[in-house]
Amino acid sequence: MHIWVLYETRLGNTAYVAKAIASALSTSNRVQLMEAQNAVMPSHVDIIFIGYPSHRGRSPEAILSWLTKLPYNALKGIWFTTFDIRYRRFRLFPRSGVSKHMIKLLQQLGGKKVSAHKSFYLLGKGGPISDAEIRRSVRWVHSIEQLLSLMSTVDALPDNHDKSVMFSHSSQ
Ligand SMILES: Cc1cc2nc3c(=O)[nH]c(=O)nc-3n(C[C@H](O)[C@H](O)[C@H](O)COP(=O)(O)O)c2cc1C
Repeated sequence: MHIWVLYETRLGNTAYVAKAIASALSTSNRVQLMEAQNAVMPSHVDIIFIGYPSHRGRSPEAILSWLTKLPYNALKGIWFTTFDIRYRRFRLFPRSGVSKHMIKLLQQLGGKKVSAHKSFYLLGKGGPISDAEIRRSVRWVHSIEQLLSLMSTVDALPDNHDKSVMFSHSSQ
């Protein structure tokens, strides 16, 4: 698969997680790690992981600026998922307004959400991030990689094959 890991960072913690994710995926994929301000139009990309910091509910400006410059249907057929780096756990509302807004924009551009937004937590307000949390981020991206691989196997099956059987077995 051709994968983009695109991120925005202020203090460097999101960059650190993005690099760990990119490195974990690069053993079996073509992976491009990029800061949002350097992002261009994606071409022949299968999935984009998009990460940003949580900063008082402020929108990640470089990512939004990239998205708003993309032409109609620029993300058509591309899977995406989003993650943020934060120190405070959500209490009542598990999804922030920022992630909802971004997911809506990504979908308006034709992107397909492959997994729910994920948060990774720092040990303190400015960092660092624990090794355990890095391992959790790597497990998360590997689970998405496996899901996409399973989906492409199912898509490749002939139309007369009962595809529902594969998924009913995997969920038991
Ligand atoms: C000014 C400021 C405001 C922040 N606001 C929040 C916040 O509202 N919620 C939260 O969970 N973390 C907050 N944080 C913690 C950041 O998410 C954390 O510092 C993170 O490392 C930023 O990502 P970055 O290192 O990639 O810039 C804040 C940090 C700073 C410096």
